[in-house]
Order: sequence, then structure tokens, then C-alpha cells
Amino acid sequence: MLSCFDQTQATPVVQHPAAPSARGAVFTRPEVAEFILDLVGYTPDRPLHQQRILEPSFGDGVFLLAILRRLLSSARRFGTSGLSEAIRGVELHPETFEATYHAVVALLQQEGFSKHLADHWLIQGDYLLCPLEGPFHYVVGNPPYVRVEAIPPTLLAEYRRRYATMHDRADLYIPFIERSLSLLAEGGALGFICADRWAKNRYGALLRKYVADNFHLKIYLDMAHAPAFRSKVAAYPAIMVISREAPGPTRIVHHPSLEPDQLTQLAQVLRADTLPEGGAVRVAQVTRGAAPWLFVAPEQRALLERLERRFPSLEEAGCRVGIGVATGADQAFIASCPWSHPRISARVRCGGAAWALSTPLARRVISSIFAATPGCAPTWRRAGR
Ligand SMILES: C[S@@+](CC[C@H](N)C(=O)[O-])C[C@H]1O[C@@H](n2cnc3c(N)ncnc32)[C@H](O)[C@@H]1O
Repeated sequence: MLSCFDQTQATPVVQHPAAPSARGAVFTRPEVAEFILDLVGYTPDRPLHQQRILEPSFGDGVFLLAILRRLLSSARRFGTSGLSEAIRGVELHPETFEATYHAVVALLQQEGFSKHLADHWLIQGDYLLCPLEGPFHYVVGNPPYVRVEAIPPTLLAEYRRRYATMHDRADLYIPFIERSLSLLAEGGALGFICADRWAKNRYGALLRKYVADNFHLKIYLDMAHAPAFRSKVAAYPAIMVISREAPGPTRIVHHPSLEPDQLTQLAQVLRADTLPEGGAVRVAQVTRGAAPWLFVAPEQRALLERLERRFPSLEEAGCRVGIGVATGADQAFIASCPWSHPRISARVRCGGAAWALSTPLARRVISSIFAATPGCAPTWRRAGR
């Protein structure tokens, strides 16, 4: 088994946090991992022993074991030469590494292959500091989300020194994406499930520019309301497929069903040369330099661009925009209140406009909100009427 800390004198001695939350240990559901492998085209009907795939933070091995099953099935059909180069997987946490290493060895032995392949494939260490020889035809996984405040200062300084996109308050997944893209072969594809915040926010700007200038954002699936992980997290995840090809339009899907059969079908549709008429897939030119990416229809985008041209931004108009209060502990602060009214509906008229409101807040609270707004009046309807 390899340890990247043994391989180079240049790797600094740094203390990594061990707690699961401090190293971003949120594991992917197996059907989502299989789906991402389908999306990037890592399928056993191809001679996979001639291709190289990288999993940069393999955790308990949900991607790695799926990769291995596909690789061995393909190898039986197409050949086994070069198998020792076919996979690279990295994991930081020693106990997690150990457990997954043994799972890989067990699967190799069960399928009649040499257990020593695992020693070529798996590396224990920090993906962002490890020497790794590219290029790779595929990079897949779910990189760790770790806020900048949770990264020890010496380590953070080293990451910033190595990764140009890690600026401002960039989360750990930002340099993971940068390094993974930089290791892609010509025509190769990266498929990550990852927080989508960087597609629009300030700290994502340099990574957006890097992608827009050098790669093709082929597929974007908004997974914000889909249970893509094995634990409950508020991470706004998205699946992105980015290839080392000339930039072009993006195929966009919002909130796909996670039924395995439907995921298989969706992957076929998304990989096809032409899309069926009237399906759930939208196509739009999304990447545009460092500017925020808009996953909207062309006419909505044209409207937004017109508004941007004609009007100053809120900040240019003198307003200060902040992120507001974030407790980081929703479970403590968001609860169903035993004293509140059951869900009630109101029709609110305000100036010339009217809209319907459905809320579990007490009628008293809503009345006081609108009482402070001249010209606004709610009329009440109880649920079910
Ligand atoms: C979000 S989990 C994903 C695990 C697995 N890929 C999956 O999809 O279930 C991220 C993993 O990255 C590991 N990790 C955190 N920092 C790392 C680093 N710098 N280098 C390599 N692995 C790291 C964590 O220990 C954790 O197992």
C-alpha cells in the first residue's frame, strides 16, 4: 500500500483534522455513484484496462468498488494488460483507507485477480499534496466539503500556494476540482457530485474562469432536493460532468428521480448525440468566463443580461449585500412549534398585486407583518377550504 507522505521530501509535515465533519466525510449513495460512472462513459462494454480512472477521496469506497466491478467485468472480455495502471484512489483518513483497502483486496480475490493490484492502485495521503502521475481518462467522486475556517493555517497556506483557484473563502472542494481537471487527458471527463455554490458565488470565480477557458461543462444536474448522500446534509449538491474538450453548451436537468432504472435511462439520454424532443433536458450556453453560471433557458438568460446592462447592481446603487445570519445548527433553530396555528392560507393584496400564501406561522404573526405595510391586507382561508 502506498503512502504519499513517504514519497516526497517536498510534502510539508502538516496536521490534518480527524473528525468526519472536519474532513468532509459525507458518503454517496451507490446508485448515484453508478450513475456518475455511466455519465462519464466508464462502462464495461469498453476496454477499460486501457483507460485510467482516478477517485481522489474514496472514503468507504462506493465509487471505487463500482469502478472495480466494471473494470474486472471489462477485463474478462477485453484483456488484462496494464491493469496496475488502470486505477488510482486516494484517501486521507488512515482507518477509512485501511477498511476500504481490505474491501478492494477481498473483491479482487473473490474475482480471481491478484490482491497486489490494490498496492498499485491505492494511496493513503492528502490528494492536494500527493505526487500523482497523470493523465487520467476519468476522474470521479465526491470531494470533501471543508470550510476554510476548519483548515489548519499551515495547511491552508500550502494549499493556497499550490492551487491558484483557492482564493477568498474557497472551500476545500475548489482545489480538488482544480487538481482533478488538471490531471485529465485530452477528451477525458470528470464527474463529481459536489456542492454547487461555486457556480455562482465569489470564491468560485477563478475556478469558473479556469473551466470556461479550458474545458466543456457538458452536464449539470441540480440535486438540491434529491437524497444523493447516505447522511442528511444541507449541501446544495449538483452533479457536473466536465471534459477536456472545446467549450460548448451544457445539458441541464433539475431534480432527477433517483430510481436506479430511471437513472440508467437518464444517463443514456444525456450521453446520446441528439436529445429527444420535449424531454426533461434543457440545453444552454452556461459558462462565460468568471461570471456566475446561469442554468436557465436562453430567453431567461437574455432577459437577465438585458437587466444587467440597463441597471446598476444593488451594490453599485449603494446597498450593502451580506450573507445574513447562518446558525449552522438548523436542527436547533427550525422546529415545528406546538403553539402555532395548523397550516393556514391567506390571499394577500398589496398595492395592485395579489398572491396566495400558505404557511404554518400563526395568523397573529402574519397579520402583524402586513399591518406594518401600508396598502396590504390578508384575507384568510383555512387549509382544505
Ligand atoms: C465527501 S467524502 C466522499 C467519499 C466517497 N468518495 C463517496 O463518495 O462516498 C470525502 C472523503 O474525503 C476524505 N478526505 C478529506 N480530505 C482529504 C484530502 N485532503 N485528501 C484525500 N482525501 C480526503 C475524507 O476522509 C472522506 O472520506
